[in-house]
Amino acid sequence: MLSLVVLISGGGSNLRALLEVSEDAEFPARVVAVGADRDADGFAHAEEFGIPTFSLAMSSFPDRESWGDAMLEQIRVWQPDLVILSGFMKLFPPRVVDALSPNLINTHPAYLPEFPGAHGVRDALAAGATQTGASVIVVDNGVDSGPIIAQRRVPIEPRDTEASLHERIKPVERELLIQAVLDIANGHIDLKELATA
Ligand code: GAR
Repeated sequence: MLSLVVLISGGGSNLRALLEVSEDAEFPARVVAVGADRDADGFAHAEEFGIPTFSLAMSSFPDRESWGDAMLEQIRVWQPDLVILSGFMKLFPPRVVDALSPNLINTHPAYLPEFPGAHGVRDALAAGATQTGASVIVVDNGVDSGPIIAQRRVPIEPRDTEASLHERIKPVERELLIQAVLDIANGHIDLKELATA
């Protein structure tokens, strides 16, 4: 059974999908804790499923490094096999990424390497793209630049707003994330191999 720590900053719809699928005894992974860099709305999902949470605001620390070290300490309490950044809108300092790598993955609402960063959906619309997508990647020390685990295209409709497009991307993200966790748990995806390829 693969143990997961999921980190969020917002509503946690991907987190909820993982919590729901984990109720199936056949699913080979379980969320053991949910962390955030703020009092995230998505904690409500964790509480509903009886999963412990932790939250550390970067502003409570003198710098990114000490915040990152404290996050790492909290994560390690749960000894997870895999850490999932799912709507976690902060960048970890390199030493935290290095400590967790390659067992640190991220979901992103664009077809990477297109439109990396905090506004993947907005940037695709602003560029006038006719299609975007969703990606699940291994986290490295760049911004959304790590090896791609899975991705799928999502068409952009002429009347799309940032909100409508994001709502169509999210179900695709959820499917990709759940399949990626399944493949990692079953050994069909080897993160170490991906990260060193
Ligand atoms: C998701 O679309 C996730 O990919 C994105 O934030 C959303 C969080 O939704 N993450 C990024 O943009 C990171 N660069 P959720 O809180 O409802 O799961």
